[in-house]
Amino acid sequence: DKTFRVLALESSADDSCAAIVDSDRRILSNIVIKQHELNAKWGGIYPLEAQHAHEANIPRAIRLSLDEARMMVDDVDAIAYTRGPGMRSCLAACATSAKSLAAAHNKPLIGIHHMQAHALTPLLTEQNPPQYPFLTLLASGGHTQLVLVKSLNEYKIVCDTLDMQVGRAFDKVARFLFLTPSSTDSPGAILSRYAALPTLPPYDTDPLPALTVPLSASHVQRARLNYTFSGLVSSVNRLFENQEIGESQKREGSRLFQIAAVEHLVAKTRDAIWSLEEGGLTGLNGLVISGGVGANSLLRQRMKEMLNDYGRTSPSKAEIKAHYPPPALCTDNAVMIANAAILRIKDGQQGERYDLPIRPKWS
Ligand code: KG4
Ligand code: ZN
Repeated sequence: DKTFRVLALESSADDSCAAIVDSDRRILSNIVIKQHELNAKWGGIYPLEAQHAHEANIPRAIRLSLDEARMMVDDVDAIAYTRGPGMRSCLAACATSAKSLAAAHNKPLIGIHHMQAHALTPLLTEQNPPQYPFLTLLASGGHTQLVLVKSLNEYKIVCDTLDMQVGRAFDKVARFLFLTPSSTDSPGAILSRYAALPTLPPYDTDPLPALTVPLSASHVQRARLNYTFSGLVSSVNRLFENQEIGESQKREGSRLFQIAAVEHLVAKTRDAIWSLEEGGLTGLNGLVISGGVGANSLLRQRMKEMLNDYGRTSPSKAEIKAHYPPPALCTDNAVMIANAAILRIKDGQQGERYDLPIRPKWS
C-alpha cells in the first residue's frame, strides 16, 4: 500500500515525452518536446527526421522531468515506456532509453500499449473516475476511435474511422476556407469560432442547405458503426466552387461543416451505445470524450443532449455521464503511460524482461 512512483517515456509519434507520476495520482513532472518545425518542413512526420529528433530529445526530456520532480532515477520505483503501436524508428528511442535506465538501476520495466494509456487517462484525471465498463471517444488529429473499456486488460474498438481523423478534417477545411492560423489556437478552434459568428449576406437571408451527415443517408449506412470524414471535406470544397472565399463564405462554410461533423460523431456514438446494449452490455458507466476535438463546444452541447435523450428512450434507460479530461493530457504525453503502468502494478502485474521487442503494429 506504500506510495510508489513511475518514470515513463513516450515517443511513438512526433512528441518526445517523459513524466513522473505517483500511485496517489499526483503528477510530479510532465515534459513534452514537440517537433512542429520538422513536421512543417516535411509536410508530416518524416520517420528518419523524427527518429533523429527523438534521439536528441528523449535524453533531454528525461533530465527535465527528473529536475521538475526534484528526483534522481533511484527515487522512482519502476520505469515505463510506450511499447507500441507507432512508428518503429520512433518507438525505438523511448524503448531503448527505458530499458537502459531500468537495467542500470535495477528497476522493474513495463511496456505500455499507447491506446490503452489514452483510454485509461480519465482514471487519473477525473475527480470521480468512471467505473468499468466505460466508453472513451478519442477525437483528435491522430485518432478518431470509440473504445469500450471493459476492464484494465479488456478493450473493444466499437467505432473507428474509415479514412481521416476528425481533427485532420477540421484542419483541412480551415485551410480551404483560409482561416488564419495563430500560434495559440489550432485550426479547429478557429473554425469553431467562425462557425459561431452571425451569418453575413447573402447567407443571412438565404442560408445554404445543410451538408449531408456522413453515413446517414440510408438504413444500410446508418447501421454501420464507422466514422468517415473525407467525403464531408470534399463536399465543403464543392460549396464555393468558382467563388472567391470572403468573410461570408468563411462563416457559412465553417458553420455547415461543424454541424455535419459534430452530428456525425454524436449519431455514431449513440448508435454504438445502442448496439452495445442490444448486444447485452449492461451497466455502462460513462462516456469519456477526449482529444483536441473534445474541446469543441457544439460537440459538448450535442453529446449532452444526446445522452439525456438516450437515457429517456434507450432499452436500459441508463444514465450515462459525459467526462472531459483536460486537453493537455489527451494529446500524446508520458503521464498517461505512467498512469497505465501504475494501474497494472496495482493490479499485481510484474515487471517485464528487458529484451522484449517493440510492437509497431499492435492490435
Ligand atoms: O488532441 P490534439 O490536441 O492533438 C493531436 O491530435 O495530436 O488534437 C488536435 C486537433 C487538431 O486537428 C485541431 O484542429 C482540433 O484538434 N481541435 C478542434 C478544436 N480544438 C482543437 N477541433 C474542433 N473544435 C475545437 N474547438
Ligand atoms: Zn496518441
